This record gives sequence, C-alpha cells and structure tokens, in this order.
Amino acid sequence: MKVFQLQDEWTIDHLTLTERPDPAPGPGQVLLQMKAASLNFRDSLVVQRGYGSMTGELPLIPLSDGVGTVLAVGEGVTRVGVGDRVCPTFIQVWISGPPSGARGPALGGPLDGVMAEKMVLSEEGVVALPDHLSDAEAATLPCAALTAWSSLVTRGGIKSGQSVLVQGTGGVALFALQFAKLAGARVMIISSSDEKLERAKELGADLGVNYKTTPDWWKPGLEFSGGAGIDHILELGGTDTMSQSTRCILRGGRINIIGVLSGDRVDLRLGAAIARSIRFEGISVGSRNGMEAMIRAIGQHGLRPVVDTVFPFDDLRQALDHMTSGAHFGKVCLEH
Ligand SMILES: NC(=O)c1ccc[n+]([C@@H]2O[C@H](COP(=O)([O-])OP(=O)(O)OC[C@H]3O[C@@H](n4cnc5c(N)ncnc54)[C@H](OP(=O)(O)O)[C@@H]3O)[C@@H](O)[C@H]2O)c1
Repeated sequence: MKVFQLQDEWTIDHLTLTERPDPAPGPGQVLLQMKAASLNFRDSLVVQRGYGSMTGELPLIPLSDGVGTVLAVGEGVTRVGVGDRVCPTFIQVWISGPPSGARGPALGGPLDGVMAEKMVLSEEGVVALPDHLSDAEAATLPCAALTAWSSLVTRGGIKSGQSVLVQGTGGVALFALQFAKLAGARVMIISSSDEKLERAKELGADLGVNYKTTPDWWKPGLEFSGGAGIDHILELGGTDTMSQSTRCILRGGRINIIGVLSGDRVDLRLGAAIARSIRFEGISVGSRNGMEAMIRAIGQHGLRPVVDTVFPFDDLRQALDHMTSGAHFGKVCLEH
C-alpha cells in the first residue's frame, strides 16, 4: 500500500511517498480503507520533531485525523462491521473518564498516523460517523473538533446565554464557534483578517475583532460581556494572548489552555488570577466517549465542519504549506 512517511530525518523535506506491505487485522482489530485526512497545527510541528521524544521514532506515518471504511474485521470484533465508515480516535486508549485516563500515545506521532491507504486499529479506537458528512468533513473530527467540544461541553459545561471568546479562524477556533452557537452562547472571535471575521459572522459570531488593528482586544472583550467578563475563553495564542485573556475573563470563568501558536511562555499576574478566581484548565483533545457525544450532536443538528481546501492525497507537502501560511479558514484536508 501507498503511505507517506517521514523517512530518516525530522524535516518536511524528508516526507516521502513510499510503499509498505498491506496490514491484516488480528483478533479485536479492524482494517480500514482510508478515504480522507485532515491537518492540525500539531502535524506541522511533528514533522520537525516539535514534541521532542513524545513524537516517537522514524520512520513515522504522519497525521492524526482521518476517516476510512471498514474493509475487514478480526476475530471477536463487535463494535463495527464491514462497510461502516469510521474515524480513528486521537488517543487510542482513552475511552472515557477524566484526563487521568489520557496517558496513551497519539496517532500521527508517536504512533503511525492516517497518511496511508490502509490502517489496522483496535476496534476500541474507532467511532462511527453520521451520513451527512463528506469524507473530508468527517476527517476533521478526531482532534480539532473534539478539543473544542471538550473545552466547552465535557469540561466547560457551557450553558445557553453564556459568552465565549475564540482566537483565530483555524480548526479548533471555528469548531468552538459552531459548538458555542449550538449551545445558545454568544461568541466573540478575534482574527488577523477582516475578511475572515466577516465569514465568521456568517457562521454566527456575534462580534469580530481584528487583533492586528485592535491589539488591546481585551477591552472590546469586556464590553462584549457587559463589563462582567467572558465565561469561556479558548486560549490558542499563548504568549501573545494569555495576559489579555486574563483581563477579559469573568470572575470564576474558564480559560481553556489549548494552543501556543505564538509561544508557550507567558508573563502572568497571579494576584489578578487569584482575585478573579480564574479557572485555568489544560485541555488534551478528549476521550472516545466525548467524541461519540460530539458526533451525536453533530448528527442531530446537521452541523457541517468548515473545510477550507481539499488537496489530493499525494499533495501532503502543499497542504502543510497552505496550513502554515495561515491563509486558511477552518480545516485543510486531503482525499484519496
Ligand atoms: N490541547 C489540545 O488538545 C490541542 C488540540 C488541537 C490543537 N491544539 C493547538 O491549538 C492551536 C490551534 O490549532 P489549530 O489546528 O486550530 O490551528 P490552525 O487551524 O492552524 O489555526 C491557526 C490560526 O490561529 C490564528 N492565530 C495564529 N496566531 C495567533 C495569535 N497570536 N493570536 C490569535 N490567533 C492566532 C490564525 O487565525 P487568523 O488567520 O484568523 O488570525 C491562524 O490561521 C495550536 O497551537 C495547536 O497546537 C491543541
């Protein structure tokens, strides 16, 4: 079968389209014919060994997120059948419960990922999908969507009438916007682009602020919440955004620490964090149970993930370049 692998060096230049023997499912395993994949910011770091030893060893098949149909099942498999369309879960062994259960490795580093024609996985590591999604749309769910869902729903317990701030218009941010609107919340979004902010408003954003032309965006953030502060913030920026997030969060509000797009070092006034009773929580994607709950909601509401571009499978390099350029709005995908 055809696979992409990082061959012998941790650099995008060593991403190679090559062949590996077809895998076969053992007891409790399923064989998938892969249909589509989607990129996460993480994938651009993995190819440079951006997670250090957590990224695993070479050769490595990259990318965590994909979708496939079940071609064959091993002995004893009951969760899915031949012909079902499924997504692999990001952390294969995290089935349910709190983050203490999330100790397993992730697909796409250190485990081999989805950029292969076929994949063998435990039946415990796949989830079934609603019919209304295209393959590319379905491929966006395991990491970006579940991270937004875990932040707002599983861990955040979002309620109708609350307020949410999302940063940027990438994968996690737009899923957070969509899930917050499903929950009946008001959403402020910040972006470097007025044109992207207009598109976010079409998706339901109540306020868009350009963080380039309004660098003190925490001020409109406070106004947006009537001066009280925002209930849920999805912190994706890190160095450039965290201190502003602490200035426009509600007393007792949640800052979900998710991304470090501008760096992972922050200068924080802890006194202010104490005085405002801020709840900081690091989010690490989510469990299979969380993903199944999210997929039920997506099916029930007919929600469509925002797909920016779909590249052919062979154009992984171009797809990665497109994502790292920051030109995208939503998800960058690949199809076989
Ligand atoms: N903890 C977890 O479980 C988890 C899961 C998924 C992702 N993440 C992390 O979350 C972050 C976002 O991931 P993603 O896959 O959604 O990325 P992405 O799709 O590549 O989105 C990146 C977008 O973020 C915006 N952005 C960049 N720098 C910014 C800054 N300084 N302030 C505000 N917005 C900024 C830009 O949007 P505009 O063009 O609109 O400005 C950019 O296009 C990454 O750091 C990723 O590693 C963490």
